[in-house]
Amino acid sequence: MSAVPDPTGPVSSGPVHRALSVEVARAQARGRSVPRVLDVGGGSGAWAVALAGLGCAVTVVDNSPDALAALHRRAREAGVHEWVTPVQGDVDALAEVAPSGGADLVLGHGLLEVVDDVAHAVRAMASAAAPGGAVSVLVAGRHAAVLSRTLAGRLTEARALLTDAHGGWGPDDPLRRRLDAAGLRALLDGVGLGVELLQGDGVLEGWVPGVVRDGGPAATTALAELESLAASEPALLDVAGRLHALARRPPT
Ligand SMILES: C[S@@+](CC[C@H](N)C(=O)[O-])C[C@H]1O[C@@H](n2cnc3c(N)ncnc32)[C@H](O)[C@@H]1O
Repeated sequence: MSAVPDPTGPVSSGPVHRALSVEVARAQARGRSVPRVLDVGGGSGAWAVALAGLGCAVTVVDNSPDALAALHRRAREAGVHEWVTPVQGDVDALAEVAPSGGADLVLGHGLLEVVDDVAHAVRAMASAAAPGGAVSVLVAGRHAAVLSRTLAGRLTEARALLTDAHGGWGPDDPLRRRLDAAGLRALLDGVGLGVELLQGDGVLEGWVPGVVRDGGPAATTALAELESLAASEPALLDVAGRLHALARRPPT
């Protein structure tokens, strides 16, 4: 059986990172010299450590003690551990560990795919954002998964991904759901967040043959530039490995 291409690629330092950097600068311009970030399902801290490096105070809420231990190590190695607070908790009871309206930026990256109740999770993240604050969501794209299974000749899984109500491919699927762009927008709209940015993450890089990806610095630069252009191309949004949305809680 052919391997399934990975349309998600590595955690990006591209369009998502750029959008978050802009959001951090925006909070700082509003007078919040150390922006408060709440990273829900932050795991071992790929995003938390990057944001601490940008000058944020980051609270990571995750229900896995192992992930929080890995986060602690990663933050220490990066020299930002004083700016990162690990908290064991569940998004289903987020208000118990994170104050309502207490964050300038709330992250839910790689979380909506795995939670029980996606609408509840989005509502909890919206409540944790301060008025005028932002919520950043990164979630697996349904249609990239359909294409990757099709290209690998796994047509039964491709069909299931296309037709299943939650974008799953079967009982062994590690994810509970995948979203498309319209579904993600509707989720965020539904809790009163205003979507300001909807872009692709890993739009093309996951489709590039390994021999090209490993082709040295020139190929890396060319691919990064292509990816950067593709991220904001509406026609390609729904084939992105992951969808990224930045939405804002209305100011009071
Ligand atoms: C795919 S990882 C994403 C990690 C990180 N946000 C990233 O993008 O690299 C998902 C994380 O969500 C956590 N998680 C899953 N369900 C959760 C829940 N109900 N409440 C809090 N964290 C949860 C897992 O323990 C895991 O660390």
